[in-house]
Amino acid sequence: TWPYLAAVIVGYFIGSIPFGLVLTKLAGLGDVRKIGSGNIGATNVLRTGNKGLALATLLLDGGKGALVVLLAYTYLTQDYAVLAGGGAFLGHLFPVWLKFKGGKGVATFIGIMFAISWPAGLAVGITWLLVAFTLRYSSLSALISAALAPAYLYGLMVLSPIGNSYFGDVQRIEFAGVMAVLIFVRHYQNIGRLLKGTEPRIGKKKE
Ligand code: G3P
Repeated sequence: TWPYLAAVIVGYFIGSIPFGLVLTKLAGLGDVRKIGSGNIGATNVLRTGNKGLALATLLLDGGKGALVVLLAYTYLTQDYAVLAGGGAFLGHLFPVWLKFKGGKGVATFIGIMFAISWPAGLAVGITWLLVAFTLRYSSLSALISAALAPAYLYGLMVLSPIGNSYFGDVQRIEFAGVMAVLIFVRHYQNIGRLLKGTEPRIGKKKE
């Protein structure tokens, strides 16, 4: 159990780096937690008006999740990859540095999805973009993509011509499912706003 615990802890600390907060502070834009939704993710960084910084936040928050999974998968086993990746996801959501008030996990989730199954990651990313460009809600895009992620993995597992091992298996489906549930939990305020019709659309600077 100790090596497994170590994988979770190392993943947690890498995942707990709040890139959105760090980048906006470094850029002199102040505390991103004081604007928009108060979230530290790419969507809220975009509300500072700095698109490049939002993209960098997306790539770094996604990249940290992908990196952790890929390293553990390459040098250890899939069990370690899931544990370390899960740790990274939890680190992003509940970073000790921010009194456990972290992000909503979308970018990190998509990065992890690419790492556990790139076709599923691609499907999730495309889903996010399609919903975002048509309905223009970042949160709704995240919720729909997260909900579909386990289904994509399942489809790939069933359809994969080269066997389950590469594109997906039950462990990866469960992992994606648990992360999707946590994404829904972290979006409860967004869900409330979506239902009330008060959720800001992408591209609107004021909420
Ligand atoms: O990535 C989080 C996104 O789904 C919602 O972000 O800032 O609009 O709450 P935000």
